[in-house]
Amino acid sequence: MQQLSSGEIVKRYRSFFVARNHLALPGSSLVVPGNSTSFIIAGMQPLLPYLRGEVAPLAPRLTALQRCLRTDDVEQVGTSIRQNTAFFMLGNWSIGNYDKRTTIQMALDLLLNHLGLPLEKLWMTVFEGDRELGLSLDDVAAEEWRRLGVPSEHVVPLGAEDNFWTMGGGPGPCGPCSEIFVDRGSELGCGAPDCRPGCSCARFLEVWNLVFMEFEKHEDGSLTSLPQRNIDTGMGLERMACVLQSSDSVYSVDLFQPALERLQALAPRDDGSPQALRARRMIVDHVRAVLLAGLAGVGPGRDGRSSVVRRLIRRAACQGRLLGIDQPFLGSLLQPLVEGHGSLLTQDEQKRVPDLERLVTNDEVMFARVLSSGLRELERVEPNERGIIAGEYLFKLHAEKGFPADLASEILQERGLVVDWSGYQHASADHRIVSRVSVQKHFH
Ligand code: ALA
Repeated sequence: MQQLSSGEIVKRYRSFFVARNHLALPGSSLVVPGNSTSFIIAGMQPLLPYLRGEVAPLAPRLTALQRCLRTDDVEQVGTSIRQNTAFFMLGNWSIGNYDKRTTIQMALDLLLNHLGLPLEKLWMTVFEGDRELGLSLDDVAAEEWRRLGVPSEHVVPLGAEDNFWTMGGGPGPCGPCSEIFVDRGSELGCGAPDCRPGCSCARFLEVWNLVFMEFEKHEDGSLTSLPQRNIDTGMGLERMACVLQSSDSVYSVDLFQPALERLQALAPRDDGSPQALRARRMIVDHVRAVLLAGLAGVGPGRDGRSSVVRRLIRRAACQGRLLGIDQPFLGSLLQPLVEGHGSLLTQDEQKRVPDLERLVTNDEVMFARVLSSGLRELERVEPNERGIIAGEYLFKLHAEKGFPADLASEILQERGLVVDWSGYQHASADHRIVSRVSVQKHFH
């Protein structure tokens, strides 16, 4: 397999689809006012009015590289080899223009003949149908993959959970999908005889999702047909780069290399433990998400989107402590990240990075004080005889010292300790009553 840089993958993807009459869109900002999610979570989101037939697109075939940011799986970052908080998604879309077979043919052509993947490494999943949704097996997709030479055993039907794509599980345009996986080698697998796409081990990596977007899902879960049959695809750039650069994870592809090197210089000691590996991965992942959010105009703060950014800074700062870094350091990773991303960031964006660096460093410094005293406290805390930490304790740490409870819980988890969350809820409810009473006292 040839080694391709991330920039080269983007170039080949784009020119492949432009040559097939797709209009290349610039990709929208990570933040779209009025959007239902804090940040863009999928490449199709900026195209919703087209997909719903509300607005006619400039062209019925579109392609773009879209920045996305999702925090729903943030706990998996660094442990799993495949989960980025922010990521680049390559996509091609048909607004009622081409069908499932054409989508599949083009996808396979790109993978085999333009990105150089060997057919025997590819596995495809298809929608096996779902009684509740009233939909049957997608035999058109399955047949088309087989007709193009994919061996039958590499075409795997899976249920709605895996192969019926919806926007973050909620309402919106949706449909059955076919996911493309790359077999990274049995040596990376769990060894289970039925290990195949859908297994959570590191062997099969999903790189591209082809969604046959025909329905609108409503609040009550019901489906109605969209005015036209659309195609919505999403290829994770970091995942494709992971495959085409033979990297061990999405965190060590070229985009992150300069930042990893900088981190290595800051924290030369690596005990080779899974915790240290996870810490390095989390740091570069989270700081990159902070960088992309910052470039979209969202800095760290208390509320809404800004609080997501602050949370990422704090999680990354904690991991720095685990690596023995006791100075603010996150801001210093921004420039190396810019270097790793090359032309994926515009010149104008690159110029704004020094300002962002100051913002990140200020927030980190503020948090450093909270962190030092909180971590000392956490080291001393003793669980009860069943290994459980009182929820009230965590609540106090949060209310009195500003130490985030979920962060504390994660740190305790690393010591094998569990938090009594119901105790936490009680303490938090009591606190609300007390503050309400004191506010009333104050104002009446
Ligand atoms: N919208 C699809 C996804 O995000 C392609 O996976």
